[in-house]
Parts: sequence; C-alpha cells; structure tokens
Amino acid sequence: MTIMERIREKARRSLKRIVLPEGDEARTVRAAAICAAEGLAEPILLGEEDKIRAAAEKTGTDLTGLRMINPAQSPRLEAYADLLYELRRAKGLSREEAGRLAADPMYYGMLTVKTGDADGLVSGAVHTTGDMLRPALQIIKTKPGIHIVSSSFLMSCRNPDLGENGLLVYADCVVVPCPTAEELAEIAVSAAETARVLCGIEEPRVALLSFSTKGSARHELVDKVRRATEIAHGLAPELILDGEMQFDAALVPEVGALKAPGSPVAGRANVLIFPDLQSGNIGYKITQRIGGAECFAVLQGLASPCNDLSRGCSVEDIVNTVALTAVQAGA
Ligand SMILES: CC(C)(COP(=O)(O)OP(=O)(O)OC[C@H]1O[C@@H](n2cnc3c(N)ncnc32)[C@H](O)[C@@H]1OP(=O)(O)O)[C@@H](O)C(=O)NCCC(=O)NCCS
Repeated sequence: MTIMERIREKARRSLKRIVLPEGDEARTVRAAAICAAEGLAEPILLGEEDKIRAAAEKTGTDLTGLRMINPAQSPRLEAYADLLYELRRAKGLSREEAGRLAADPMYYGMLTVKTGDADGLVSGAVHTTGDMLRPALQIIKTKPGIHIVSSSFLMSCRNPDLGENGLLVYADCVVVPCPTAEELAEIAVSAAETARVLCGIEEPRVALLSFSTKGSARHELVDKVRRATEIAHGLAPELILDGEMQFDAALVPEVGALKAPGSPVAGRANVLIFPDLQSGNIGYKITQRIGGAECFAVLQGLASPCNDLSRGCSVEDIVNTVALTAVQAGA
C-alpha cells in the first residue's frame, strides 16, 4: 500500500468536514465530488451557487449531496464578522472592515474552521500560499504550546532502505524563511508529530541538518542548529533527536557510524529538519526532481488543519490534500 492509499484509508474511517474556499474553481468542484463519492471527507464548497454550478457543468460533475455556502448570503456572516472583529480589533481592524473580510470566502472559510463549523480547510488552486497563510495565522492561530506554523513534506522515495521503508519527512520547506534556534526546535517537534499522525511512523528519528556533523565545522550557522537541538531535547525529552549532522550522516548507516558514532539518529533518520527555507525548499525539489520521490505537503502547528495547494495542482492533488487534512483533523 502506498503512503497515499494509507492516508485515504485513514480519512475514510471518520468523516471530516473540509471547507473549500475556492468552491467555484473547476478542479476544486470535481475534487469535492470525488471526495464525497469516495467517503474521504464531507466537502463544503464556498462561493456563489451559479458559479459553482457553472464550474460543475464544465467538468461534468454531479453536485448532488454536496454542501454549498455563499458567504455573502450566509446567516452565519454577522456572527463570523463579530468573531473576526474580536480576534483582530487589537491589531486595528474595524468592525466595518471585519464585515467586509468575513464575506470573503478565504476568511469565511477560516472562520468556519475557527468556530468548529468545519474541521479543516484546503485552498491554493487559485490563491497564493501567502493569501491563505496570513488569514490562517491570524484566525486559526497555533496549537497550544506551539508558537510557529511550518510545513512538512512527506517524501516517498524509490529506495526502500531510506528512512522508514523509503518514507522521509522533510521540514520546513514552505513557511519560515529564516527560523531562530527556538523556531527550528519547534519545527522539529511538529515534524515528528506529523510523521506519527500522517505516516504512522511510531518511532520518529529526527536529524537537525547542517553542513557540519558533530562539530566537524565551526560557524555561527552550525551553532544555531546545535542550539536548536538542545532546545528541542528540552521541549520533547522522549523524542529520538540529534544534531547537528550532514544529510549523508543522517541517512547512510556507514557515514553516520563514521561521523557520529553512538548517535541514536545518524544513519537511520526518518525526519529531516533543514536549517532554513532555502535549504528545505531546494532539498525537497532535488529529492523530487532528481531522486524521483513522490511528495505531499502539509502545514503543521495550526490549531486546526489548513492546507495549501500549488496553483498548478491537479484534481488528484486536491483530493489527496483533502484526505491529508481530514486525517490531521482526526488526530
Ligand atoms: C507566513 C507568511 C505568509 C507571513 O506573512 P507576513 O506578511 O510576514 O505576515 P506578518 O508578519 O504580518 O504576520 C501575520 C501574523 O502571523 C504571525 N506569523 C507570521 N508567521 C508565522 C508563523 N510561521 N507561525 C505563526 N505565526 C506567524 C505574525 O506573528 C502575525 O501575527 P499578528 O498579526 O497576530 O501579530 C510569510 O512568512 C511568508 O510569506 N512565508 C513564505 C511563504 C512562501 O512564499 N513560501 C514559498 C514556498 S512554496
């Protein structure tokens, strides 16, 4: 069974309500119908009904049984606007502006999740990552005990000897451009949690990556990764975690034994923490494009799950992301 087959299987076990703010977008409508038909989630399409129906017609999609909400005409709009005003008034948001924003499907979707009227949100077929992340950070906010939202990529590699039977979790590859040591430590803890929840990895072994292994090089960037490792140990003492180490020392048993003898992680890591967004984003793309790995992205650290799509996404990508979001919601 592939990782995505396992995730879809898990999603089917408890039906979660996943709100889709880009409800009048053709791929999204098609994906929603597939999710409902396959029992992966109960999708909620946001948008004007006429536009949703036009998008459905374009793709030959049957909308029977799918929930549709037009935010601008919703009986919940005023209550959502009040909530948004409460959440953001200290940041200078006026009640009038809150009313206008709450009618926007992206904000309305976030408020649906915030109030528990939905369990999770998926968007990004039209909007950029920032368009979706900013309201998520402002409204959904972080989980208790977590201060930083980040991402994990589930990398399904061709070589079954790598990581957990070929599965690796990479973080952070999308959100935090230049994390502090404290933020890096939290990213490591969140990624281990993602590995447990989504990949079923019972024993995450987390490597904090650098261009140095255990003091082989001296630089302030290396010091930051070392400090992050110490902080992460404090945050999650039970977690099997080590750093700083190079990519090969983390993954290849012979190199790990040579460069970091006695490390519980070196040579057998299944969760890899990159020191910043440049290395993380480049790293996952190398693994995907040159290494031929399949990859699936999720956000982590939010109080309720919201996930982003690439604007070039396929219908299948949306279905997969809905399934991932549903599993996160059930965790
Ligand atoms: C995440 C991101 C959208 C934040 O945007 P921003 O314009 O910098 O937003 P702000 O700094 O105004 O922050 C908005 C709020 O979110 C909070 N915030 C920002 N980043 C956060 C994070 N990673 N985790 C938790 N909270 C965060 C801020 O503290 C602020 O809270 P407040 O308004 O309640 O005070 C921005 O960091 C970003 O664009 N990251 C890169 C995303 C990207 O383009 N990736 C491309 C790879 S595909």
